Amino acid sequence: MQKKIEEIEKSIDEAVKDVQSSKTLYEIKMRFLGKTGEISSLLKNMRDIPPEERPSFGKLVNALKQRASERLDELEAAIKRVELGKKYFREKIDVTLPGRCTPDGAFHPNTLIRNELISVFAGMGFEIYEGPEIENDYYNFTALNTPADHPARDMQDTFYITEDLLLRTQTSAGQIRVMENKKPPIKILSPGKVYRSDDDATHSPMFSQMEGLVVDKGITLCDLKGMLDEFAKKIFGEGVKTRLRPSYFPFTEPSVEVDVSCFECGGKGCRLCKGTGWIEVLGAGMVNRRVLEGCGVDPDVYTGFAFGMGIERIAMLKYGINNMKLLFESDIRFLKQFKG
Ligand code: PHE
Repeated sequence: MQKKIEEIEKSIDEAVKDVQSSKTLYEIKMRFLGKTGEISSLLKNMRDIPPEERPSFGKLVNALKQRASERLDELEAAIKRVELGKKYFREKIDVTLPGRCTPDGAFHPNTLIRNELISVFAGMGFEIYEGPEIENDYYNFTALNTPADHPARDMQDTFYITEDLLLRTQTSAGQIRVMENKKPPIKILSPGKVYRSDDDATHSPMFSQMEGLVVDKGITLCDLKGMLDEFAKKIFGEGVKTRLRPSYFPFTEPSVEVDVSCFECGGKGCRLCKGTGWIEVLGAGMVNRRVLEGCGVDPDVYTGFAFGMGIERIAMLKYGINNMKLLFESDIRFLKQFKG
């Protein structure tokens, strides 16, 4: 029996010789000390041992068990220490290193102007409404007092999708959608993309507009003028004045073209204002009573004004950009200059 015990001790020596991982050590532990391990199995043979030898045999096996488990536990602790050291080394981080910088993006000039306009008009109590870019003929033209054979349709070269569906040529289409759904008082601002078959240094087939619509009892052209003065000062600078020139849009009557005094030369005349001292910035007018009527708003009770401006145009004026294409080319060298 003594021999058997020595054999087991020898094979433990053999097994632990090259162990380096706690996983292998665990397997060794199971092999010898597990419930069905080699040491426990010795006790299974108890029946074959004469009864008087049994107590001393039990003692021997227990002592073996004790020795083996102490030895393997010590070894396990040593291996775990080494493994933990390696893990610490692998996962070491230097918390004093400066962080990696993600380069900052910048807002596109269009976004800057759009946000600036929204903040100016929101300050005057305007709400935002965004209409669909694919419109039907009714909202883009007919309801805006521009029926099928109206010569004003030629003012805007339209991209048609079907006979009735088109890419909206103006955010004015949204005026109708708002008036159909909301009773006055109405005070909305409607930014969005519009499309026209037009392409040169100051025109692009896709561009953005900002539309405004105010409808209530007793709204006059004076209200429009007063609001525009405020808008021009906030966007172009305190000293800037506005003037209205007569114009024509089918959906406003009277219609005006709005100029601001040149913020570059103060009105003396320069390259920006082409020597005139004035710069055209938007179209506007009193909402045509036929448009109000068509939307179920009584023109004898309510009046209103509307205005529409090109966002790219304002951006080009304000930032001195001479070619509209720069706004659509996504050239990082250009866009970087607008970091706020
Ligand atoms: N929709 C007109 C255009 O695109 C601008 C405008 C809007 C004019 C509102 C008057 C009133 O040219």
